[in-house]
Amino acid sequence: MSIEGSTVDTLTIEEAAAELERLAKEIAHHDALYHGKDQPEISDADYDALKRRNDAIEARFPELIREDSPSRHVGAAPSVTFAPVVHARPMLSLDNTFSQEDVQDFVAGVYRFLGRLPDQSIAFTAEPKIDGLSMSIRYENGRLTTAATRGDGTTGENVTANIRTIAEIPTELPKGVPSVVEIRGEVYMAKSDFLALNRQMEAEGKQTYVNPRNTAAGSLRQLDAKVTASRKLKFFAYAWGEISEMPADTQFAMVQTFKDWGFPVNPLMKRLNSVADILAHYDEIGLERPDLDYDIDGVVYKVDSLELQGRLGFRSRSPRWATAHKFPAEQAFTEVEKIEIQVGRTGALTPVARLKPITVGGVVVTNATLHNEDYIKGIGNGGERIRPEDHDIREGDTVIVQRAGDVIPQILDVVMEKRLAEAKPYEFPKTCPVCGSHAVREVNEKTGKMDSVRRCTGGFICRAQATEHLKHFVSRNASDIEGLGSKQIDFFFENEDPSLQIRTAPEIFTLEKRQQQSITKLENIDGFGKVSVGKLYGAINERRSIALHRFIYALGIRHVGETTAKLLARTYGTYEAFATVMKEAAPLSGDAWSDLNAIEGIGEVVARAMVEFYKEPRNIEVIGRLLDEVTPEEAEQPVTSGSPVAGKTVVFTGSLEKFTRDEAKARAESLGAKVAGSVSKKTDFVVAGPGAGSKLDKARELGVQTMDEDEWLALIGG
Ligand code: IVH
Repeated sequence: MSIEGSTVDTLTIEEAAAELERLAKEIAHHDALYHGKDQPEISDADYDALKRRNDAIEARFPELIREDSPSRHVGAAPSVTFAPVVHARPMLSLDNTFSQEDVQDFVAGVYRFLGRLPDQSIAFTAEPKIDGLSMSIRYENGRLTTAATRGDGTTGENVTANIRTIAEIPTELPKGVPSVVEIRGEVYMAKSDFLALNRQMEAEGKQTYVNPRNTAAGSLRQLDAKVTASRKLKFFAYAWGEISEMPADTQFAMVQTFKDWGFPVNPLMKRLNSVADILAHYDEIGLERPDLDYDIDGVVYKVDSLELQGRLGFRSRSPRWATAHKFPAEQAFTEVEKIEIQVGRTGALTPVARLKPITVGGVVVTNATLHNEDYIKGIGNGGERIRPEDHDIREGDTVIVQRAGDVIPQILDVVMEKRLAEAKPYEFPKTCPVCGSHAVREVNEKTGKMDSVRRCTGGFICRAQATEHLKHFVSRNASDIEGLGSKQIDFFFENEDPSLQIRTAPEIFTLEKRQQQSITKLENIDGFGKVSVGKLYGAINERRSIALHRFIYALGIRHVGETTAKLLARTYGTYEAFATVMKEAAPLSGDAWSDLNAIEGIGEVVARAMVEFYKEPRNIEVIGRLLDEVTPEEAEQPVTSGSPVAGKTVVFTGSLEKFTRDEAKARAESLGAKVAGSVSKKTDFVVAGPGAGSKLDKARELGVQTMDEDEWLALIGG
């Protein structure tokens, strides 16, 4: 009998070691096929069996667990971004209508455009507008080949591997379908699945998700398709892109065809003939909305006849033959019980209204953000009035609360008739409620205006800022350490025992070692236990090697979000290269500073924040200790072998005619070039289209090579 089939129980230690080595190689091979090429050789069940066997052997021989064990990392080394996919037909958006009058105008406009009289009735379809993510799924000869997100409508992201994990989406179509079919529709997460997932997250001490839509988006943008697979996403087909042969000539019949081909379609879609019927269906769907297991935010109306759709055509980004009739944001009255101040990672003092619990659109609302002190007074970000002067928000006030889609509940207005005689204007604290340091409103250097946010000046001495920093560090899109949730961070932060204290990120990674030398054991503390402590150390150790963009994001530099972190990782490749520039750029002048500003997507505010961060000795000290424990991986560089522009810096200017700016940028980057926003002496090429102005002049002045679009295309090989 081969070792492979033998039971784990009878393996000798030598056999086990050999087997683990073989499994590590084999699983890595399948990971690469699955994730990198979207071409798995074995079924998921067989793959899982290999993983289970590996786990079983490791459980029996823990001393044999290898550095490269598949149990130590999930999936193949992820590529930082998804490959771009240019849609065969652009993915458009819809115009919105908000009132019955808008809908009447829309329908009247269709009749007018087509030169029809009201009695020459035009049929419309009406169906729910699903609050998910639009997706274009391409089938060639009946087989799923590519699935792409909407992106900017022209170019989306290739998420094929993830879409393949959605059981509701067929990977093969029945015989006889057209040779090319692009099905478009919405990927969403059912409300019930969302709630179950959040219950699970809560039980595991992890941060919960905000709403089904964002969770679906996050689940799809996973580099590891297994995570997507675990999230139970669903799909409704409602539109199409390229189709080699049209199977029907009405919107309604097209969708029915999709149903016949095995796609889920929304059961509430109807074909109707008058504005009155359309509006009645809108009301009906509105009534059913709370009972549906998916979020919808309106009803979409489309001209049914494809011939008429063709004649109506498009405006710039949306069809003339369709509109989305949005549901009004939901509102309710309740009372402000208290106004509290939260202190965030960057020291921002954010007032929050604690509300008497109230159901708004099926969700119980207990808090509403008040943004900042101006907002409480009824003043918007631009200094404009958003409520009458005496409608400032006070504790005890009755207010109108609004919840729209996935935005945080807002207080719209105060019901003045109900204001209590003793209600006093809210006095915004001038000191941090957590550490007592001064809280100040900075003056924006550029505009000379006072910032609307008041910030605690306590920095690291402020417990709120320090714990928020840690919570950010371990959060899902940063270092993503499982088992270190908000509660646990608070516990470790407050702990006075040196073997149990975590006040800065590096201490997360020294916890296990400190514990080994200590007599106070974490596993004996309420809420931990042996198994969970083992898991926690495992999760921490898994992050000793970390993707560069995650590392940069995890540092918690103000204004450096995930997108910026990815951009920096791609630009600099290694942490050392990044840190060197940050430190050199610190004087806010000179080459390093202008290079940093020349990165397209990095504005002055972000650049300044990064430089300020690296000027702070305490940050340097903490990062130094962190780097003793953690190794940021080299960022994956785009495949560039043989590319004539690899490593070159390109600036596009003027109007491009052969491709959009985004496309040109994506293409250049995929060939290993860096695309910058401004011309400096480090620029290698300036590609100028018609109307190019100062950048072209500057290039000539600096002697930088300039070319037109055609020359650029010739250079990169068409
Ligand atoms: S039709 C050319 N139908 O709404 C029109 N869109 O605001 C193609 N959406 O990007 C879209 N439910 O993500 C259509 N039943 C539905 C929809 C729907 C949701 C989304 C879709 C689109 C966005 C436009």
